[in-house]
Amino acid sequence: MQIDPENEHPSVVYSTMIRAITPRPIAWVSTISPRGITNLAPFSYFNGVCSQPAALVFSPVNRPDGSKKDTVRNIESNGQFVVNLVPFSVAEPMLNTADDFPYETSEFESVGVTEKPSVRVSPPGVAESPIQFECELIQIVPIGDGPLAANVIIGKILLITVSDRVLDAQGKLDPERLDTVGRMGGRSYCRTTERFELAPRNPD
Ligand SMILES: Cc1cc2nc3c(=O)[nH]c(=O)nc-3n(C[C@H](O)[C@H](O)[C@H](O)COP(=O)(O)O)c2cc1C
Repeated sequence: MQIDPENEHPSVVYSTMIRAITPRPIAWVSTISPRGITNLAPFSYFNGVCSQPAALVFSPVNRPDGSKKDTVRNIESNGQFVVNLVPFSVAEPMLNTADDFPYETSEFESVGVTEKPSVRVSPPGVAESPIQFECELIQIVPIGDGPLAANVIIGKILLITVSDRVLDAQGKLDPERLDTVGRMGGRSYCRTTERFELAPRNPD
């Protein structure tokens, strides 16, 4: 099978990409509106891209009617957001925050997760998440325009908060305790509890 994205229906390209590029981490992004109403939504076009300075990206695409998602509207208005990681224990509430809530309806309340005050930015984090990346906007890079076009959000990480409950005896992040979920395609997700090790041939 070969797919030429320019000559294929966008739904086929989308479905192929999200089933092929796997597993994808999930950014559970909290933002706040100019009137102070919080917003929370998951994005799996997401990754860390730089450690010096610490930076990450995620990509909310426009809705089918061409409008921008609430997360983008809020970040455009105040340039701040928090990326929360998603452990298995809150996979279902995470999914529920992807529902199409009207602007300025807080998903925190609607799905029953707890706001955790942030240190460097106004939007709160998710208390049930073991890691928060508090970010300020570097740049929004548009890719295309209209329906399904992307707004690639590049954020500078101002503060990383890691809960003690996911640290091992040496104080390092323990992937077993972190137990994050990844998105596959369609309704499929995976857990990070099954892992293997590879040793480099020429260790430093
Ligand atoms: C696991 C998961 C990953 C998602 N990833 C993305 C994504 O990368 N980009 C995107 O535009 N929408 C993504 N969505 C859909 C958004 O979460 C959804 O459109 C949400 O309503 C946007 O909320 P907002 O309008 O409050 O920003 C994802 C949904 C789920 C469940």
